[in-house]
Amino acid sequence: MRIPMKYLPFLIAGLFCMSSAVLAAPSQFKHQARNVNCEACHNTAAPVSAAKSKSCMKCHDYEAVAAKTAKMNPNPHDSHAGQLRCTLCHKEHSDSVVYCRECHKNKDDQRFNFKTP
Ligand code: HEC
Ligand code: HEC
Ligand code: HEC
Ligand code: HEC
Repeated sequence: MRIPMKYLPFLIAGLFCMSSAVLAAPSQFKHQARNVNCEACHNTAAPVSAAKSKSCMKCHDYEAVAAKTAKMNPNPHDSHAGQLRCTLCHKEHSDSVVYCRECHKNKDDQRFNFKTP
């Protein structure tokens, strides 16, 4: 079992069923507030591997999130890149990223300077 050190606190929290309030990360605040537990994303109560996008789809779908960010240009949920895995951008336990930057590397290109929750 290989688990990056940075996840250790979460793993321990999961194993001992401590209050999820110990977890602090960007989009986690909303998930915690709505009682989305470890199992909802990881399928197991004590996660040992990264959550998959498929589990996000139990509660979210691309059409709905694309509609929510429709005012953005470009829309991270509706672009030529298609329907990407949610977890390429949304990291949940650490700072999220803008996956588009993997190709759109030019830092002066302001179109990709949005922040992923
Ligand atoms: C809203 C969905 C979501 C919830 C709820 C969630 N996680 Fe995660 N978790 C993720 C995602 C997404 C990743 C992968 C992050 C990445 O790719 O860097 C991850 C990664 C992890 C990992 C690292 C696994 C590995 O091998 O890379 C651990 C451990 C973990 N989560 C534990 C927990 C625990 C414990 C809880 C409950 C307290 C929890 N998670 C709740 C989405 C979630
Ligand atoms: C059990 C249901 C459930 C699951 C599973 C789930 N979510 Fe959520 N998510 C919610 C709810 C409820 C909210 C708060 C209301 C909203 O913004 O839609 C939310 C909010 C969010 C937000 C907005 C956070 C913010 O600060 O604005 C993001 C981003 C998100 N979810 C991504 C994900 C990703 C990525 C996954 C899979 C790794 C996932 N969710 C899995 C229910 C879920
Ligand atoms: C290319 C990166 C990327 C991918 C892939 C991605 N998102 Fe997002 N998501 C973002 C960004 C950036 C925002 C913030 C938009 C803003 O500034 O309002 C966001 C916002 C959200 C929100 C909050 C919307 C709101 O305004 O309430 C939810 C929920 C969400 N994403 C869920 C998902 C889910 C579920 C998936 C997979 C089906 C997904 N995202 C895939 C980048 C991404
Ligand atoms: C696999 C590489 C790759 C990824 C990932 C990628 N792009 Fe692109 N994108 C390109 C290429 C190549 C072009 C054409 C050359 C250019 O304009 O840079 C392009 C062009 C664009 C354009 C200008 C042309 C148009 O269609 O309007 C936009 C806007 C754009 N991409 C948005 C995005 C967004 C948003 C994401 C993330 C959700 C993304 N791209 C992810 C490779 C990529």
